[in-house]
Amino acid sequence: MTILVRGGTVVGPTGATRADVLVDGETIAALVEPGSTALGADLAATADRVIDATGKYVIPGGVDCHTHMELPFGGTFASDTFETGTRAAAWGGTTTIVDFAVQRYGERVQDGLAAWHAKADGQCAIDYAFHQIVGGVDDESLKAMDELVAEGITSFKLFMAYPGVFYSDDGQIVRAMQTAAGNGAMIMMHAENGTAIDVLVKQALARGETAPIHHGLTRPWETEAEASHRAIQLAGLTGAPLYIVHMSAKQAVATLAQARDAGQNVFGETCPQYLYLSLEEQLGAPGFEGAKWVCSTPLRSRAEGHQDELWKYLRTNDLSVVSTDHCPFCFKEQKELGLGDFSKIPNGIGSVEHRMDLIYQGVVDGRITLARWVELCATTPARMFGLYPRKGIIAPGSDADIVVYDPAGHTSIGFEKTHHMNMDHSAWEGYEIDGHVDTVLSRGTVVIDGGEYLGRKGHGQYLRRGLSQYLV
Ligand code: URP
Ligand code: ZN
Ligand code: ZN
Repeated sequence: MTILVRGGTVVGPTGATRADVLVDGETIAALVEPGSTALGADLAATADRVIDATGKYVIPGGVDCHTHMELPFGGTFASDTFETGTRAAAWGGTTTIVDFAVQRYGERVQDGLAAWHAKADGQCAIDYAFHQIVGGVDDESLKAMDELVAEGITSFKLFMAYPGVFYSDDGQIVRAMQTAAGNGAMIMMHAENGTAIDVLVKQALARGETAPIHHGLTRPWETEAEASHRAIQLAGLTGAPLYIVHMSAKQAVATLAQARDAGQNVFGETCPQYLYLSLEEQLGAPGFEGAKWVCSTPLRSRAEGHQDELWKYLRTNDLSVVSTDHCPFCFKEQKELGLGDFSKIPNGIGSVEHRMDLIYQGVVDGRITLARWVELCATTPARMFGLYPRKGIIAPGSDADIVVYDPAGHTSIGFEKTHHMNMDHSAWEGYEIDGHVDTVLSRGTVVIDGGEYLGRKGHGQYLRRGLSQYLV
């Protein structure tokens, strides 16, 4: 099967160019000048299918390198399965996810990974890969890290938060970082000072402060900045590459920027919720409504100006990636577990369907360039986690993961309108985007076509990853 995507503007991380894209089977065969006969034939006449992209952007499929399908959290599970979550991702122009397999304290890492394969294999609409959460650093799990790198799982998430659940102390972090420095893996860090936060949470509850906003107020920016600083120092000490996930506090990113300027191999990611939403407006919504936006790190104060600073840091490459940290919970029966006690609200927001649109709106609003949109949402995450050039770029030989994006289109986000995630609400209700995902190809198969879903569960392939391509 050959497909010609004709007449569009192909956007990559270094800029945009007018070109037709020829897809042959699962990969991109060629980029050709519009109307060129360089390949010796009228491609439009010989291709099995022609997709008209006139007036539209042709971009690599999005790579969301931070999702949590079916994550066990707070006595429940994230509400998207790999089937529903990857279908929703496809609707939004994301064609690869990297999800987190979980090892909890007392479990074998390999068992956690096998459980994740059992959840995902044969279920996904788009391609998928795994990071590994190491929730119990000991001799056995450190050995497992070496084995997993050889199997194509080249990044490991540690938690400085959630004592008693996923938490690693500084000694454990140092040991895991030493292992990563030896085998080339990336350490991904949830950087919040969990023991300090636990004290603040207990004190707040004792004062009768039970509403969702206290989730944010008991995780102040200092707890993120301190943990980020500590993680960066420990990474410097051990020589491990470090990627700090879901950064929301401007002070934490300032620390990261300083370390990057000093030449340290450290990277930061943020998510759409930290760019658009705030402690005051969403987490502080009346009654229990704010539970919809309980996530960690928390939404930050707009009065303190975190959101604008994060956009700036995306522009200056102090933040390298926008992922979603997609971790959806329904309001009924899941978020409601925390009625009367904010610390029992499952942490997470669902956005896997909306990331490409939400960050494109940053282009429309003049916050980032078109090329930077593609770089932040596709190319850099692919390079960061060893998937490039198979993913993250429109180039000959790369997988034909292609999105035709209409800048003249419009997307109204909301539960009733465009939302395909397995949730009973939307954290993005009412958001209006000046653009639209028209057509999505996953490895040469059209999965979204003008408002219709044509994909199928099981189409998505598991991806073994190489080492990060930002290692020196
Ligand atoms: O609130 C969040 N971020 N939930 C998902 C788990 C994590 O820490 O990434
Ligand atoms: Zn986290
Ligand atoms: Zn996460």
